Amino acid sequence: MQNLSFYDYHPTLLNFCDEVLKGLSLPQKKFPPQFFYHDQKGSDLFNQICKLDEYYVTCTEIKILTQNIKEISNIIGENCLLIEYGSGSVDKAYLLLDALHNPYGYMPIDIAKIHLLDYAKTTAQRYPNLQVIALNADYTNNIEIPEEVKNIKNKVIFFAGSTIGNLDYEDAILLLKQSVHLLEEKGGLLIGVDLKKDPNILHSAYNDHEGITADFNLHVLENINQELKANFNLNNFSHYAFYNPYFGRIEMHLISKISQEIKVADQVFNFKAGESIHTENSYKYSQEDFEFLAKESGFKIAKKWSDPQEFFALYYLTCE
Ligand code: TRP
Repeated sequence: MQNLSFYDYHPTLLNFCDEVLKGLSLPQKKFPPQFFYHDQKGSDLFNQICKLDEYYVTCTEIKILTQNIKEISNIIGENCLLIEYGSGSVDKAYLLLDALHNPYGYMPIDIAKIHLLDYAKTTAQRYPNLQVIALNADYTNNIEIPEEVKNIKNKVIFFAGSTIGNLDYEDAILLLKQSVHLLEEKGGLLIGVDLKKDPNILHSAYNDHEGITADFNLHVLENINQELKANFNLNNFSHYAFYNPYFGRIEMHLISKISQEIKVADQVFNFKAGESIHTENSYKYSQEDFEFLAKESGFKIAKKWSDPQEFFALYYLTCE
């Protein structure tokens, strides 16, 4: 395909083992969070979460995008290179690509190589006049973008799904600062942010009735079994997610139902009954908190769109 290029930056899956072993050695056991989406099953489960009524995040963001798409594409302007952090949000990216004025190119950046390659091919076919530049890389890793698109003046980063909320505050600032650098202090960042709200609504969003979020959380154990020759039995762990108002975040845990020994890459780890592995956080921002974070990182608030209930906000941040 002529309008497709693929760059493999070999994102550091190498450290996978070290990180897991380190995390399991802490008093509060934890996993590095990237491992939810390692395989097709993880991506499929997440797509199912996005369709749940209780998980208002995805549909609210799509509604905000749809309702304001003209204004968004006007703000972004002509000939942009749309850089996407991650490549899971097909509906949202295509919504944008359909509406943008003569976009030059689209650059999804993702650590999941096979998924990215498939997605890049499908996208290049769908948009024959668009240059698709897929980067197999970790977007939190201060990446350099390929020479072929370095000179494009109008670069815009799209960071959807409130994935910023999965980073701790320091890492969130760091990523936004790196984004200013990536944009060479021009261009903009279109970013979706899940807002603070009634904790009961948040609680339901991460504890759906069908148990899909539970399956998604537990699936991390399957990935670790497969990649690190571990012997986690999924039946012996349960999903536990709650809103922690002090930290303003949903915390996702896996709770050991029994006292057990687990082998991971030839090391043995002991679990007490009731002990948790902290698998993920999802920070919720007030508008003031997020705007402060954006400014601290060197961005200006150009525009904000929200839904009537103010569950979710979509921001356009600019560097200048
Ligand atoms: N970015 C999503 C969020 O924090 C990811 C997510 C949704 C998630 N449900 C989850 C991550 C359950 C781990 C477990 O809202």
